[in-house]
Amino acid sequence: MTDPNLRVLISSDRIQARIREMGEQISGDYPSGRLHLICILKGATFFMTDLARAMKRDVFLDFMGISTYGKGKTSSGEVKVTKDLDISVEGADVLVVEDIVDSGVTLNYLMQLLQQRKPRSIRIATLLDKPERRLRPVSVAYVGFRIPDEFVVGYGLDFDEKYRNLDDICVLDGELAAA
Ligand code: IMP
Ligand code: MG
Repeated sequence: MTDPNLRVLISSDRIQARIREMGEQISGDYPSGRLHLICILKGATFFMTDLARAMKRDVFLDFMGISTYGKGKTSSGEVKVTKDLDISVEGADVLVVEDIVDSGVTLNYLMQLLQQRKPRSIRIATLLDKPERRLRPVSVAYVGFRIPDEFVVGYGLDFDEKYRNLDDICVLDGELAAA
């Protein structure tokens, strides 16, 4: 795809190589027990399906939909669950799979919510982390890539629902990104 607004930041090859490493590491950290991967819709779908296939053990897959309101306007950032889990996580090891941690508002809220459901353990795996932008503390166990404060699209990440199906992670330059 030739789009003058896009600049490749992380190529598909690098993404796939890093996910294979993460899959091996995470499999080693959870040698036994029931492990639930919880994909945060929609951005993390590509990451979760590749990560699940890079794991050397059984995993359960589940999905959660979240929308965040008030971002940029109020620091409280109201969060709403738009699709809840299908499978109970009580007594299970939970790995929340996210595309990117930015302000931390979404995951800070979600971790509190999931803790109430009595999992045995809960950790976060994110493909991307923008630590400079953090407003709320979030403890992230597994990070694919730390990136600078730039707006990125591709490999699940969107701008206005566009660009999710790019193989590479690209910086969206120009006026679009500032909108
Ligand atoms: P936060 O950590 O609560 O600010 O929100 C993280 C969510 O914001 C992610 O799951 C993405 O959906 C979205 N997001 C943050 N930064 C970017 C980006 O650079 N590109 C695309 N979506 C982003
Ligand atoms: Mg998201």
